[in-house]
Amino acid sequence: MERGWLHGERFLLCLILHLLLQGRGDTFTINCSGFEQHGVDPAAFQPMFDRKAFRPVVNYSIPTQVNISFTLSAILEVNEQLQMMTSFLWLNMIWHNQFIRWNPEECGGISEFSIATENLWLPDIFIQEFMDIDETPTGLMAYVNSEGRTKYDKPMQVVSICNLDIFYFPFDEQNCTLTFSSFIYTVENMALGLEKEVQEISNTSQNLIQSKGEWALLGIYQKQMKMTVDTSQYDQIIFYVAIRRRPTLYVINLLMPSSFLVVIDALSFYLPAESQIRVPFKMTLLLGYNVFLLMMNDLLPDTGTPLISMYFALCLSLMVLSLLETIFITYLLHLATTQPPPMPRWLHSLLLHGTSPMKCCPTVPQKGTKDLDLTHAHLPGLKEPVELVGKVPDPQEAELSGCPGSTRAQQEGEAQKQHLVGLWVQFSHMMDTLLFRFYLLFMATSVITVIVLWNT
Ligand SMILES: *[C@@H]1O[C@H](CO)[C@@H](O)[C@H](O)[C@H]1NC(C)=O
Ligand SMILES: *[C@@H]1O[C@H](CO)[C@@H](O)[C@H](O)[C@H]1NC(C)=O
Ligand SMILES: *[C@@H]1O[C@H](CO)[C@@H](O)[C@H](O)[C@H]1NC(C)=O
Ligand SMILES: *[C@@H]1O[C@H](CO)[C@@H](O)[C@H](O)[C@H]1NC(C)=O
Ligand SMILES: *[C@@H]1O[C@H](CO)[C@@H](O)[C@H](O)[C@H]1NC(C)=O
Repeated sequence: MERGWLHGERFLLCLILHLLLQGRGDTFTINCSGFEQHGVDPAAFQPMFDRKAFRPVVNYSIPTQVNISFTLSAILEVNEQLQMMTSFLWLNMIWHNQFIRWNPEECGGISEFSIATENLWLPDIFIQEFMDIDETPTGLMAYVNSEGRTKYDKPMQVVSICNLDIFYFPFDEQNCTLTFSSFIYTVENMALGLEKEVQEISNTSQNLIQSKGEWALLGIYQKQMKMTVDTSQYDQIIFYVAIRRRPTLYVINLLMPSSFLVVIDALSFYLPAESQIRVPFKMTLLLGYNVFLLMMNDLLPDTGTPLISMYFALCLSLMVLSLLETIFITYLLHLATTQPPPMPRWLHSLLLHGTSPMKCCPTVPQKGTKDLDLTHAHLPGLKEPVELVGKVPDPQEAELSGCPGSTRAQQEGEAQKQHLVGLWVQFSHMMDTLLFRFYLLFMATSVITVIVLWNT
């Protein structure tokens, strides 16, 4: 294979030598006398143009050194679903064309010509990650100096494939590669080099990218290596383009509203459990959150499961949990005030034991003694239980006044029931506070976990 190439090139060399001997003698020097008076004579360049099909070296054993650099001027789009990055860059290539040479003094001091690229040999440098048709405009020019140093810049819209990891969205950084290499020239024929320091490429690109778009350029890094295909080796230069998403939009539109709703949801635990507004309030929050998720869905990446989706799911489950808790407490209170079941002994002692030494229930004052007045003891802050508790015996009292015979026994039973109701109400409040603390604990843990994950 390799031999075949070399053989072919030797053949080309002979052909060129033949052409040369036929043409302008043994040098490649362009005769440019008279250019300053009559303008450029195309005929003087014609022999050089005729050789554009061949690599411009005299000795084909020597590889052509092509030095490249580029300036990244925009990051247009990063598509997570297609795993593609669209950027815009200026590719600069410099190589030596040994078929061109002239004496600037003969040409009236002209040391540089611009020549239409269709008349010149161009290195076939391509980007391996390129996944689109090359829309490089035609009719570009290249600068050639009197030593044959050819400088060619071309603008490119690069749609490159890039392994995008959106787990940390919207705080993600991506590392896209642009691998420059030659299509057909092996290391024996073409050597790639850098025209500028990679730091300089990075600096100019950072200065040039003025757009305050979604992506900021962190830096460009470079690695040079050889790619082996079958038995041939190809020179390649790999550039790593490190970019970071600007998260402000997402923080404002996604994270903040969602956090606010969860905070309000947590604060709504301070609504008195007896009031009937807690459940509708939380229901409304939940509904609002769902609407929010629906509306914000198109801001999220289309593929994969970023951490932010888990965060949303977490917020939603926190809200559902808090709603369930409120339903449970409401049910418990309802049960307590209408038909309190007999209280298990252990629960009774736990309640009596639990209230006085421990500061478990902020809504329940510590003085809540083991007396009959338990109901009254924790009611001052809450007005409705008084009504609720008061309402239950109301009809009975009316009944009582009607028949004064068995008042004593009835009153005793009534007092017992009151006591039981008080205990159950107290139990409900304890449960409420306890579950609220669990909820807060769970919320804090999960939020901290998410934040820690985001920071790594
Ligand atoms: C260059 O061309 C001019 C005519 O255009 C001719 O007089 C001159 O001798 C040529 N010089 C060389 C070095 O061939
Ligand atoms: C071509 O280059 C090779 C390697 O540098 C060298 O060995 C050889 O002598 C050169 N041939 C000519 C004709 O200059
Ligand atoms: C390319 O760069 C190398 C150093 O990296 C330098 O020796 C060589 O002259 C450069 N070639 C051109 C055509 O600028
Ligand atoms: C990008 O990825 C390459 C290889 O995967 C690695 O060598 C390089 O350090 C990475 N660059 C950055 C800035 O993360
Ligand atoms: C690039 O910029 C940094 C600071 O932003 C500077 O320290 C460094 O010297 C610059 N490098 C080049 C090659 O211009």
